[in-house]
Amino acid sequence: MATMMLFLLTISLTVHSVGCFINHSECAKTDKLLGNWYIIRWAGNLPLPEAKLRSPLPPFVLAKNKIGYLEFRMNISKPIGCVEFKMAMNEAKDFPCYFTLWMWHYVSIKFFGGENFGIASLNGITNNVHQMMAMLMGRRNYTADTTLLLDFEDFVNQMGMNKTSIINPPYDDSCEPDKKS
Ligand SMILES: *[C@@H]1O[C@H](CO)[C@@H](O)[C@H](O)[C@H]1NC(C)=O
Ligand SMILES: *[C@@H]1O[C@H](CO)[C@@H](O)[C@H](O)[C@H]1NC(C)=O
Ligand SMILES: *[C@@H]1O[C@H](CO)[C@@H](O)[C@H](O)[C@H]1NC(C)=O
Ligand SMILES: *[C@@H]1O[C@H](CO)[C@@H](O)[C@H](O)[C@H]1NC(C)=O
Repeated sequence: MATMMLFLLTISLTVHSVGCFINHSECAKTDKLLGNWYIIRWAGNLPLPEAKLRSPLPPFVLAKNKIGYLEFRMNISKPIGCVEFKMAMNEAKDFPCYFTLWMWHYVSIKFFGGENFGIASLNGITNNVHQMMAMLMGRRNYTADTTLLLDFEDFVNQMGMNKTSIINPPYDDSCEPDKKS
């Protein structure tokens, strides 16, 4: 599942939702995003069975790589053990809120209600299929107050997805360092 989400981060985008939210939102910048994050909710029109969509998700880290780009890192549990996935995300200079994954592939990241919560989203066409994904992320916390959850529902609706498709993923701590013995 986590691998599938990473794969989807490769999807191109381009719709900028201009919403009216309860909490103030602002474009995220690399330096403000650094640290540990949890996936609180997510939604996406992925062609996967429901059980797969609801599988547990590990936390992730946003760090800066050697060349100063934001880097997404996530330890994913595999049969061979925990594998760390890394993906560079460069702030798109003339395109506020967006980070370039590579040529023509972008992810939008906005903070909601301060800098401890954010919504990352992808919206694009790959192989003639319109694919969308949104994720409510929290720093140091995998719970959010009701207003943030409502804002996320609005965000998902504005993207053209049904809020009933929002998933509250169980937390996967199988690759947390202190869980391994
Ligand atoms: C992945 O696990 C390794 C080994 O425990 C750890 O050093 C690394 O910081 C972890 N990475 C993330 C993104 O949690
Ligand atoms: C979001 O906005 C509501 C209403 O103003 C406020 O009560 C809540 O604390 C805000 N949430 C965060 C995380 O700032
Ligand atoms: C998340 O925040 C809530 C409310 O502030 C708190 O009760 C809870 O312990 C926090 N959870 C974690 C994992 O930090
Ligand atoms: C969203 O999904 C629910 C249940 O699957 C359905 O009843 C509702 O009509 C859908 N709403 C929209 C706007 O498609």
